[in-house]
Amino acid sequence: KVKAAVFASGTGSNFQAMLQKKFLEAEIVLLVCDRPDAKVIEIADKYHIPVYARPPMDFPSKAAYEKKVLKQLQVHRVEWIFLAGYMRLIGDTLLSVFPNRIINIHPSLLPAFPGKEAIEQAVRAGVKVTGVTIHFVDSGMDTGQIIAQQAVKMKKGESLSQLTKRIQSVEHRLYPETINKLLSRSNGL
Ligand code: GAR
Repeated sequence: KVKAAVFASGTGSNFQAMLQKKFLEAEIVLLVCDRPDAKVIEIADKYHIPVYARPPMDFPSKAAYEKKVLKQLQVHRVEWIFLAGYMRLIGDTLLSVFPNRIINIHPSLLPAFPGKEAIEQAVRAGVKVTGVTIHFVDSGMDTGQIIAQQAVKMKKGESLSQLTKRIQSVEHRLYPETINKLLSRSNGL
């Protein structure tokens, strides 16, 4: 199996969904987390997955932080990176070593509502349909080539937290499925 690292900053429900998938084409060998107090670390511990959790603030620059992360990725022989609620832009240090090997999940139909609080942005804009996007990561904010999307229709009178739940349940199915499709396609390359 292809070895992958997950990068996350928060709760880790997408990370957990990958770990719970009956068959995932990737073996998750490392969690990289930029917040040492994040919930996602507990999930990694439960599944005995090694964690690298150092705040980027401890380093003099983004490049210095990413060089340290890269060392860890190399130690674990990581070939793919899955961002799952990692709230930071990836810099050139990692992008140049993993060209088209970093993917991200975002809770909107990109290019609409990039960045933070995408679900709130969609509600405020009054759109009737939002959704989930999985895309390759480039140096921009949620701008890379789109791999998969699924629409989620707004319901009248629905609260933000109910909508968030429905979007997340789509994410938890779509992310592992898309990883499987993508990796089975690129295995022969
Ligand atoms: C997910 O909804 C993910 O799409 C979003 O953060 C959440 C993380 O949840 N990512 C972004 O907004 C990226 N711009 P999780 O920690 O429970 O997986």
